[in-house]
Amino acid sequence: MNAALRAVVRAALGRGAEVIGFNHGYEGLINDESRNLDSPSVGGIIDRGGTILRTARSAAFMTREGRDQAMAVLIKNGCEGLVVIGGDGSLTGALKLQEEFDYPVCGVPGSIDNDISGTDFSIGFDTAVNTAVDAIDRVRDTAYSHERVFVIEVMGRRNGFIALEAGLAGGAEAILVPEMPFSLPDIGAELLEAASKGKRSSIIVVAEGAAKADDVREALSECTGFECRAVVLGHMQRGGSPTAFDRVLALRLGHLATNRLLSGFRGEMAGLAGNLLVSHPLTFVLSSERQIDPEKLLLSEAMAQ
Ligand code: F6P
Repeated sequence: MNAALRAVVRAALGRGAEVIGFNHGYEGLINDESRNLDSPSVGGIIDRGGTILRTARSAAFMTREGRDQAMAVLIKNGCEGLVVIGGDGSLTGALKLQEEFDYPVCGVPGSIDNDISGTDFSIGFDTAVNTAVDAIDRVRDTAYSHERVFVIEVMGRRNGFIALEAGLAGGAEAILVPEMPFSLPDIGAELLEAASKGKRSSIIVVAEGAAKADDVREALSECTGFECRAVVLGHMQRGGSPTAFDRVLALRLGHLATNRLLSGFRGEMAGLAGNLLVSHPLTFVLSSERQIDPEKLLLSEAMAQ
């Protein structure tokens, strides 16, 4: 997100605009937590996880009164447009401002979950996946040496994008995602069969939205009798220095969104399609659901032999 902020600020300054940032997302907008963002203010942040603006969930912004207040603050600060960096909730808020007040907004997709339509990748996903893969690799050392089954829970409240990608890259024996029904007794039977052929350790990756690691651990240990352990990666996936891919993605999307807004386009979200930059209406982005890749699901099954 910091790389995206850096791109927004420098793209806008490059076109002669001034930039004001609001701390704490929509909550800070309502409370007028504004700060001037000049070029040095976004220097030295490209390698930092999180966001220097901080963030917050805002119940007030979900009400019409809250959005009226936010609009009053934007006008008071002389803001002529708003770039919103965030996930589904943030982008929905941006669209509300556009629709209710005809206010110019543009979105930049930021979510480790990668569940935003209109872009192949949202900012943070690649970093989260690489963090999860690093953790899987480390856990595998113990799984192998102690001949255990490890169930590793990754983030993804509503979808399995992180689980699928990290599970494939980490060589998981099974990947459980909310998008695909699964049977723990069947997985247990597969583990027993693999053991009969000499396999002595396994890694199961589970998206938090599919099942709790500990429940999976308990079920598998009951039906196999193997020593099973659960690891929940949690918020370690949401922090840390971003990958080069994420940094460049954030720069490209932040730069595009800002330039589109300054050129008079409104209500769009910048995205990546293949390696090409695109800009889609927020109405489209928010009305469609990003689908998990069936080819990767099949690949994960094919690899689980
Ligand atoms: O951003 C989405 C997400 O990463 C989910 O995958 C996860 O469940 C959630 O955020 C955690 O949010 P919080 O930090 O508010 O518990």
